[in-house]
Amino acid sequence: MGSEEKQLKLASRVGIIGAGVSGIAAAKQLSAGYSPVVFEATDSIGGVWKHCSYASTKLQTPRCDYEFSDYPWPERDNSSFPSHVEVLEYLHGYATHFDVLKLIKFNSRVTEIRYVGDHYDDSAEYGPLLSGRPVWEVAVEDSVSKLVQLNKEAARSLLKGKKVAVVGYKKSAIDLCMECAEANHGPDGQPCTMVIRSLHWTVPSYWIWGLPFFLFYSTRSSQLLHERPNQNWFRTLFLSLLSPMKKAISKFIESYLVWKLPLVKYGLKPDHPFVEDYASCQMAILPENFFSEADKGNIVFRKASRWWFWSGGIEFEDNTRLEADVVILATGFDGKKKLQALIPQPFNNLMADSSGIMPLYRGTIHPLIPNMAFVGYVESVSNLHTAEIRCKWLARLADDVFKLPSVEKMLQQTSKEIQVMKRTTRFYKRHCISTFSINHSDEICEEMGWSSWRKKNRLLEVFSPYNSQDYV
Ligand SMILES: Cc1cc2nc3c(=O)[nH]c(=O)nc-3n(C[C@H](O)[C@H](O)[C@H](O)COP(=O)(O)OP(=O)(O)OC[C@H]3O[C@@H](n4cnc5c(N)ncnc54)[C@H](O)[C@@H]3O)c2cc1C
Ligand SMILES: NC(=O)c1ccc[n+]([C@@H]2O[C@H](COP(=O)([O-])OP(=O)(O)OC[C@H]3O[C@@H](n4cnc5c(N)ncnc54)[C@H](OP(=O)(O)O)[C@@H]3O)[C@@H](O)[C@H]2O)c1
Repeated sequence: MGSEEKQLKLASRVGIIGAGVSGIAAAKQLSAGYSPVVFEATDSIGGVWKHCSYASTKLQTPRCDYEFSDYPWPERDNSSFPSHVEVLEYLHGYATHFDVLKLIKFNSRVTEIRYVGDHYDDSAEYGPLLSGRPVWEVAVEDSVSKLVQLNKEAARSLLKGKKVAVVGYKKSAIDLCMECAEANHGPDGQPCTMVIRSLHWTVPSYWIWGLPFFLFYSTRSSQLLHERPNQNWFRTLFLSLLSPMKKAISKFIESYLVWKLPLVKYGLKPDHPFVEDYASCQMAILPENFFSEADKGNIVFRKASRWWFWSGGIEFEDNTRLEADVVILATGFDGKKKLQALIPQPFNNLMADSSGIMPLYRGTIHPLIPNMAFVGYVESVSNLHTAEIRCKWLARLADDVFKLPSVEKMLQQTSKEIQVMKRTTRFYKRHCISTFSINHSDEICEEMGWSSWRKKNRLLEVFSPYNSQDYV
């Protein structure tokens, strides 16, 4: 870097919004050159891991996959899933070890982001990530967090002895039904009704017919069977020849799930292939006693595509009614909406494509929004690993180790990824790269000037899973 460029870099100030997994990973990776300031709305790091009201919330990814590349879990080979408290401790350990806490301004909510850069021209090229002069200005509300969090006791007593309806059939809903069933053990107990709009495959553990789950989707050999962006005609032909094998793997997993879980008994067997849930990052791990609580009558399933409230609870499209004292909407969240509330025009209108997905190059840069990066929107099997590798890429982009391609090329790349997701799964709502995650990381490595094949030998390269330790 020349001295003029170095001065430009020094003049650039980096602001990071949020001190969850993504924010602390970004702060750590950028801390070497830029002393970023992290604005965190609450009084703690950890984001979702700090704000868990229910004691049973756990990591559902194996801990060795939900791990920073340079900060191993104390017992990384322990196969149990750490509680949210343990995850928070791990994140604290990381932030303390790498001295990230000093960069964070707690109780600082960003309420507005203003564009103060040059006149925006949407036909211009993206340019460097850091321009050396102010481009964005953030308004920060310097106040103690207004977030009201239920304590664990209050959360449980909200469910105890009550007729509870939980709307949703994914991870939050499953965990909440389990909490509800456990809170209702005993004489005053009431069943908890799960209101299910669409069925999805759920998995009891990371073992299928005695084989480790990673063999099916997390190795190079397994991802060879899945479409990826930028594949040539030969690969397309190869994939169509091998598509029976892809289907067979999905069927093999489905056969285990139908054998292991009472899905047929409860009318919960989905019609779509397992791979479609996997490819949309929707696979939920079932708590151990979920179906034994259903067998005891503590969890009841109600399928309904439409529902609405009546004064005593919930009514369904066939006009039947469910009485409920408490209705919990475990219906997910849309992080994009939060961003849209902050980002000014004209960028606000450009954020999402017609299918509602943000076109993020390498899962990070929006080609039409200058000097800004987004971490944590692209999902895969381990969102921590997905976020960390992108922050490493981002730090090198900030350092000008490589340059971004033209806006047109970036948009082409994101559009190809979105097309692959759409073709792979009908549930493509989220930007999920789980079936081509290794290829995604390969492209990131190549751009950073790293070798993309990162294992010690060819055998491991083909048959062992990839995780953050491969990208040290
Ligand atoms: C209960 C639960 C369990 C999960 N389990 C897994 C799992 O097992 N495996 C997996 O891979 N993923 C899991 N996830 C996904 C999880 O979201 C990611 O793994 C990761 O923790 C997300 O981190 P993040 O930093 O991107 O976002 P968040 O954790 O949401 O952090 C965002 C931070 O930004 C702050 N913030 C927001 N708005 C502002 C503002 N305007 N100004 C200042 N600060 C702001 C928030 O206070 C928060 O601290 C889980 C999610 C949930 C909800
Ligand atoms: N590790 C953990 O312990 C844990 C715990 C909780 C959450 N998480 C993570 O957090 C993220 C969000 O998960 P989530 O379960 O909260 O949300 P989600 O995955 O978005 O699921 C939302 C659920 O609500 C249903 N739904 C949405 N709107 C509905 C409506 N109007 N009527 C009926 N049903 C409706 C959806 O049905 P459709 O399928 O029909 O859309 C789906 O079943 C995921 O990444 C998840 O892995 C992890």
